[in-house]
Amino acid sequence: MKGIILAGGTGTRLFPITIAVSKQLLPVYDKPMIYYPLSVLMLAGIKEILFITTPHDQDAFKKLLGDGSQVGCKFEYEIQEEPNGLAEAFIIGEKFIGNDRVALVLGDNIFYGNEFGKLLRSKTEVDGASIFAYPVKDPQRYGVVEFDENKKALSIEEKPDKPKSKYAVPGLYFYDNKVIEYAKKVKPSARGEKEISTLNQMYLDKGELEVGVMTRGMSWFDTGTVESLDDATEFIRVLQNRQSTMIGCIEEVAYRHQFINSNELKIAIEKYGKSKYGEYLKNIIEL
Ligand code: DAU
Repeated sequence: MKGIILAGGTGTRLFPITIAVSKQLLPVYDKPMIYYPLSVLMLAGIKEILFITTPHDQDAFKKLLGDGSQVGCKFEYEIQEEPNGLAEAFIIGEKFIGNDRVALVLGDNIFYGNEFGKLLRSKTEVDGASIFAYPVKDPQRYGVVEFDENKKALSIEEKPDKPKSKYAVPGLYFYDNKVIEYAKKVKPSARGEKEISTLNQMYLDKGELEVGVMTRGMSWFDTGTVESLDDATEFIRVLQNRQSTMIGCIEEVAYRHQFINSNELKIAIEKYGKSKYGEYLKNIIEL
C-alpha cells in the first residue's frame, strides 16, 4: 500500500498565521504538524509516501522531510495548483499510486490511541474502501455518516446543515486501486470542491465501503481552526509530559518498526541538535 499526505489548501481559517507559512508546517507543541499524519502512515507500515502541497510551499516541505531515506522511507512530492478538493489527491497521485492500494491522510489531522498501529495495519489489504466514524459535538463541520440501527452506513454527507448523526469522518481513508477511476468521476460540489465525501458515497453505493466506529480510547483532532489547533497542542503537551513518550516522533516509529537501525537513527538525530526532540531520540538508543 502507498500513502498520500494532502498538505495543500489555503489555511484561511488560521489567517494571519498561515499567510506566509503552510498550516501543516505550524508547530503542534514541539514538532511540525505534518509529523503527526506522517507517523500515522508509517505506523501502518507504509514506506512510499507522496506529499501534495501548494506550489509555493513545496520547497519548505522538501527542506523538512527530504527524500525520506533518513526514516527508511521513500518520499515524493507533487503540487496541487488550486485547492480543488480532497478527491483530487488521487488524480494528482495517479502515477505514484500505479496499481497499488492507497491510504490518504490529511496533513492537519492528528490521531492518538491504544492499539492504533494494529488497527492501521489491518486496513492495508482493503478491497473497496475503509473509513472511520468518530462522535463529535459539531458534526456540521465535517463529512458525516448516517447509520441504521445495526451501525450499517446509509449515507455520507459533506458538512450538512442538518447532520443525520453525530459521527464525523476523520481525515484518514484507505482505498483499493479503483479510487483513481472513481476520483475522476467526482463532480465539484456547490462550494466548488471535489469532495472526498462524494467519493466515499460512490463506494457506499457499490456496497464497497466499510465504516469503523472509533471508540472512546481514540483521540482525533482536526487542527483547522485556532481553537482546535490550540486544543491539539495542549493535548500533546499534557500527554507527552505525563507519559514521557512522544507522539508523532517519526524517527522513533522508523526505529521501532525496523525501517532503520541504530546507526541510521544516530545519523538522523544529528539534525535535531540540542533540542528536546533530539535528546528524546538519544534516550531511545540508550535504553
Ligand atoms: O478533518 C476531517 C474532514 O476533512 C472531513 O470530515 C471532511 O469530510 C473533509 O472534507 C475535510 O474537511 P475540512 O473542511 O476539514 O477540509 P479542509 O479544507 O480543512 O482540508 C483538509 C486538509 O486538506 C487541510 O490540511 C488542507 C488540505 N487540502 C484541502 C483542500 C480542500 C488540500 O491539500 N487541498 C485541497 O484542495
